[in-house]
Amino acid sequence: MSYQGYAADLGDGEVAALLFEYMPKIAAEHKMDSLLVLMADLGRKIVQADRCSLWLIDEERNELWTKVAHGVSELRIPLSAGFVGYSLKTGEPVLVEDAYRDSRFDRRSDIKNGYHTTSVMTMPLESDDRVMGVFQAINKIGDNVFFSKKDLERLKLISVYSAKTIESAIRAEKLERYAKQLERKAEELESAHMELIRILGEVSEFRSQEVGDHIHRVSEISKMLARYYGLSDEQQSMIYYASLLHDLGKVGIPDMVLKKEGRLTESEYSQMKSHSVIGRTLLRDSKTDLLCMAADIAGAHHERWNGTGYPDRLKGEEIPLSARICSVADVLDALACPRCYKTAWSEASVKEEMKKSRGTHFQPELVDILMDHWDEFFSCYKPNGAFVKNGLLPPVSE
Ligand code: C2E
Ligand code: SIN
Ligand code: SIN
Ligand code: FE
Ligand code: FE
Repeated sequence: MSYQGYAADLGDGEVAALLFEYMPKIAAEHKMDSLLVLMADLGRKIVQADRCSLWLIDEERNELWTKVAHGVSELRIPLSAGFVGYSLKTGEPVLVEDAYRDSRFDRRSDIKNGYHTTSVMTMPLESDDRVMGVFQAINKIGDNVFFSKKDLERLKLISVYSAKTIESAIRAEKLERYAKQLERKAEELESAHMELIRILGEVSEFRSQEVGDHIHRVSEISKMLARYYGLSDEQQSMIYYASLLHDLGKVGIPDMVLKKEGRLTESEYSQMKSHSVIGRTLLRDSKTDLLCMAADIAGAHHERWNGTGYPDRLKGEEIPLSARICSVADVLDALACPRCYKTAWSEASVKEEMKKSRGTHFQPELVDILMDHWDEFFSCYKPNGAFVKNGLLPPVSE
């Protein structure tokens, strides 16, 4: 595009009008290369140049780069090239009438671009005490053949404005990149955290020889109970992961007790019951909300609503809600599946037992939820149940 249409230099009013036209466009633009194109365009109109570029220092590659309108890729030149390099090095502006009669000129650009440079202005782009680049105008157009002192003043004006704009764009870009990095790191940490919890849950399951995926089913059922109870998505997800660790304390119980076929003696049973305290102790000092919830669940999943449970004989809402929820899921699964000490119960007997425990073992509302959505809850104990993980088949009840 060319501005031959302008005969004389612009008046101050016209310059102001151009500034007001461009300022909102520039303020709305956040991409650095689009900003460079916009500001170069503004500069070209104000000083009536055939070409204008904003060259910025690329500190990593020790080069100057710019972007021209419709240019496919960016242009790059050495830091020391020509008038631009001179302004960069000295912090001084350049105003020349005929580039070819000035030893600072680097003709290689003309040769490469098939262009003939005559008059040139360059102005350092300064921010605080640092030169970050150079604003360059080439070949005066219109009535005048050369750029004037007044053009140089106007180039100075838009250079100050451009430098400020670029500064804040660079800051915004850095912030955005930093924020993205942080977000990625947080996601990585979170998934590593969840992975470790899953592995720890599987370790406790492996150790206690529970039949296929007990831990995962208890977690799925707990999450479903939490959903129908009206807890938030985040709470549901926390309950899922925290429930994976409900029997973590079983890692501290001897095999002889843990894997005993048939009934436990009284002393074996009291040994077994210590798994809730062991689990809570292992998780107690955790700093994250999730592991604190896991400690609550591990410690209180054998408490009972009516206060007859263990280890602390907590009653009603003294029992953390997460543990009340997990205990319903835990018992449902223990009844519906075979254990080393028992066979699986029939669906009808499981349902009957759970209903009977409303208000004694379990919070009434939770049993109501279970009964209201029984088929959905019990579907995981049917062949091709919904919660099968790790390729393990769910145990089939009679
Ligand atoms: P678990 O097998 O995961 O059972 C969890 C809970 O489900 C039990 O907690 C109990 O509340 C309920 N439950 C399991 N089977 C039955 C049952 O046949 N009838 C009824 N009404 N409820 C049942 P509890 O009693 O505190 O037991 C904790 C853990 O102790 C059990 O976890 C299991 O690992 C072990 N355990 C309990 N009883 C025996 C037993 O007779 N023999 C053996 N070998 N282990 C047992
Ligand atoms: C350019 O390629 O236009 C910059 C080099 C110079 O200022 O001569
Ligand atoms: C509730 O039981 O609904 C209140 C939540 C809590 O006590 O933990
Ligand atoms: Fe338990
Ligand atoms: Fe369990």
